[in-house]
Amino acid sequence: KSTTLSPLLKMYQDATEFYHHILLTTKAGEKGLTYAKNRDLNEDILNHFQIGYAPDNDQILLTFLKQQGYEDDLLQRSGLFVESKDGQLFDRFRDRLMFPLMNETGRTIAFSGRRISDDPEIAKYVNSPETEIFTKSKLLYHLSEAKKAVRDEGHLILYEGYMDVIAAYKAGIRSGVASMGTSLTSEQVYILRRITPNVIINYDGDNPGIHAAERAITLFNQVAGFNLGIVVLPDNLDPDEYVKKYGKEKYQNEVEGALAPTKFLLQRTALKYNLHNEREKLAYVNDAIALIASLNDPVASDIYINDLAKEANVTIESLKVSLLREQRKQR
Ligand code: GTP
Ligand code: MN
Ligand code: MN
Ligand code: MN
Ligand code: MN
Repeated sequence: KSTTLSPLLKMYQDATEFYHHILLTTKAGEKGLTYAKNRDLNEDILNHFQIGYAPDNDQILLTFLKQQGYEDDLLQRSGLFVESKDGQLFDRFRDRLMFPLMNETGRTIAFSGRRISDDPEIAKYVNSPETEIFTKSKLLYHLSEAKKAVRDEGHLILYEGYMDVIAAYKAGIRSGVASMGTSLTSEQVYILRRITPNVIINYDGDNPGIHAAERAITLFNQVAGFNLGIVVLPDNLDPDEYVKKYGKEKYQNEVEGALAPTKFLLQRTALKYNLHNEREKLAYVNDAIALIASLNDPVASDIYINDLAKEANVTIESLKVSLLREQRKQR
């Protein structure tokens, strides 16, 4: 491109290329490459996601960027370094596999570095701090690429982690994005809405992931017009682990089988009760009715009421009476 980049964006581009080059072609990168191979990241993937490696050296990026002519002031503002009390700079990322975090036009604006060692004392991921070019609450990993795939694939898929987006990519799904961890923001929701109403949430199959999906549904429901799907993976697996264990066809089937949000929430509600106990069953039916009433969708209500009647072994008529009563209450 012929546009001139702001100095900070240029610095991040240089840093991206530097870490990527270290990973793929240098002795200092061998450790990172071994880790990458162990996680099934082939060269194609490493290139597409511009993944790199920051060696266990607190001066290597600093030295390189100084050689490129960057001034101290810009280096300080970049977030790539930590500063000692006496004003000395040190590389922030050491001995980490580097994921460039890109903005919607595909420019690196921050990094997330994954620890290579299995030392649980060290944070698993370290992110760049916020800077004049990086606002964490607005970042969606891989969005610049994913949005190009929306027309073909019909939706965006929201993941927790970078490795999940990458696993999806390996499984032939290019429309994956990740919200740095499980705390989705309303800014991210508005960005997604601008690109497509069709969003599939595929968080990790563990408890934190399922609770995060519940919270995400609430957040998405505050913005009109979304058509959501929820994928819940078995055995606490995250998408990366699932693809590794069961392969890409099985994973694609899981995505195809995404649940409507109400169905997902009804299933979650059912799990809270022992349906063999009369009293608990009644409480469950009441909760379920409240959920269905909040839909304000007669056809969907009909479907769920039918299911609920079978599940709880009660008549559809009685459920409809309860539903009407609940709808008046909610109004
Ligand atoms: P892998 O263990 O490398 O497969 O990562 P993961 O994506 O499965 O991690 P996990 O499910 O534990 O967390 C999901 C996401 O939360 C990660 O991709 C990160 O964005 C974020 N996250 C996890 N651990 C940390 C951490 O120690 N620090 C920060 N800042 N973010 C984290
Ligand atoms: Mn691509
Ligand atoms: Mn998780
Ligand atoms: Mn995970
Ligand atoms: Mn994982």
